[in-house]
Order: sequence, then structure tokens, then C-alpha cells
Amino acid sequence: MLVSAKEMLNKAKAGKYAVGQFNINNLEWTKAILQTAEELKSPVILGVSEGAGKYMCGYTTVVGMVNGMIKELGITVPVALHLDHGSYEGAKACIAAGFSSVMFDGSHYPIEENIEKTKELVATCNELGLSLEAEVGAIGGEEDGVIGSGEVADPKECKMIADLGVTMLAAGIGNIHGKYPENWAGLSFDTLDAIQQLTGDMPLVLHGGTGIPADMIKKAISLGVSKINVNTECQLAFAAATREYIEAGKDLQGKGFDPRKILAPGVEAIKATVKEKMELFGSIGKA
Ligand code: 13P
Repeated sequence: MLVSAKEMLNKAKAGKYAVGQFNINNLEWTKAILQTAEELKSPVILGVSEGAGKYMCGYTTVVGMVNGMIKELGITVPVALHLDHGSYEGAKACIAAGFSSVMFDGSHYPIEENIEKTKELVATCNELGLSLEAEVGAIGGEEDGVIGSGEVADPKECKMIADLGVTMLAAGIGNIHGKYPENWAGLSFDTLDAIQQLTGDMPLVLHGGTGIPADMIKKAISLGVSKINVNTECQLAFAAATREYIEAGKDLQGKGFDPRKILAPGVEAIKATVKEKMELFGSIGKA
């Protein structure tokens, strides 16, 4: 059964570790992540962007697939199905479809409008027992065509949004989606520290987990980050393993053209990436 991300993230914040959000794209992705979480006894959050939701034939298809897998694979660890960077309309659609968690990314609205819309979704999510992630300060880089400029959030605005009763808060601290450029300045730990001081027990979310050095991840966790989003790194691992299979001509040998064979190395690569992240985030054995 899907669960809200609230309990797993409050536990993570108190225990000074982070739960990974791994974005899904299809059946193979979802299966790889769920099996790894179960094997390592780690709670997990499956992230679905609006674009990936559309690709997978809509939110009800995603809910059906994930619920079916939890049952058929005998998954016992806590799993939250979460809308990533949702619009206001997207959040409502996911709530209706049976997601257990949603993100409303109102970071591009003026703060007053972000507050108004977040407030309304807090009420809906509370009533249904779902978790809600809000965002202050756009995360840089490009994700599904949404381009953010990589802002550093205003800690006072973070406090205003946290006080609305959201479950977890994403704040821009110099992080960006996708690969980090050579000249990246790194995370702004002063900003993170200031945000945590004002928001107290609120689990903080670090987007753009791909390519952040391990020492920065550990420091961010020590300063209150309890959810870390990873997407691109699984995509890169999947692509590299698939390329290797094809370049070795394995699809031309025997039944190597069977899609279940072609996709298998990519699935193993996703599993290895997820395992490495769960080790780094400290979530293994916390289910
Ligand atoms: P990356 O693609 O950089 O790992 O970021 C993922 C993310 O933050 C999803 O919201």
C-alpha cells in the first residue's frame, strides 16, 4: 500500500539521514527502484514529473502500475508515490488519481500567490492524509522543459511557506537539475543553515541530487535535508549500460533482441545507482 511521505521524512529528519526520491519513467524503472528498496529495507519515494506521467499514459495508469507492483513483488517497505514539480492543476489531478504525495511547485509565482495556492493544497492534503511538498526559490537547470534559474531561496519566505503546514519544503540553495557545470559554485550551506534555523523540524528537500559530491550531501543532511531527489543519474546509468549492450552486438546474438534482454543491463545499472545513493543518504535498514 502506498503511504504518505510524512512519517518516513519526519523519522529521517530526527535520525539525520535522507530518503531518496527516484524518478520513474516506465515499468523497468519502477521495478528496479522498488526491488532495491525492498532488498535494502529502505523507505523510498517514487517521483513522477508531469511529463513522465503523460509518457506513462496518465496518472491513473501510474497509480495502477505502482500499486500492482507493490502487491505482486511483495514490497513491505514504505513507498510514497509523489508528483514532482507539479503545477496546481497537476497536483489536483494526482490527488484524484490516488498519488500518496504531491509537490506543488509555486516557486515561479510571486510569493503571495505561491502562499495562496499552497494553502489551499495543504487543506486538501491534510484532509486526505497525503504529504505535500512546496518550493521556494526555483531550482536551476532544465527539467521537462521547465527552466529555472538556480535561485537561492529567501529563508524568511521559506518560513512563511513552512508555516502553512506543508509536509516538506524544497528550497533553492544553488542546486540545479541535471549535470553540474564545471564552474558550479556548490551548495550554499549558509542559506540552508538559515532556513533550518527558521523552519525547525520541517524536513527539507534537496533537488538536483545528480552529481552533488558525497561530502556536500552529508553536510546538507547534517543541516536538515531529509529528502534528496535523483533523476538524471539513473538515466545516465541506464543509457550507458544499454549502449554497451548494443555496441557489443549482443542484440544480434541468439535471442538478444528480446526487449527483456535488451533492457536488463539498464535495469541492473539503475539498481546499482539507487543502492549507491541509499548508502550515501543513510536510509538503508530504516524501513
Ligand atoms: P537530477 O535530475 O539532477 O538528479 O534532479 C532530480 C530532481 O531534483 C527531481 O525533482
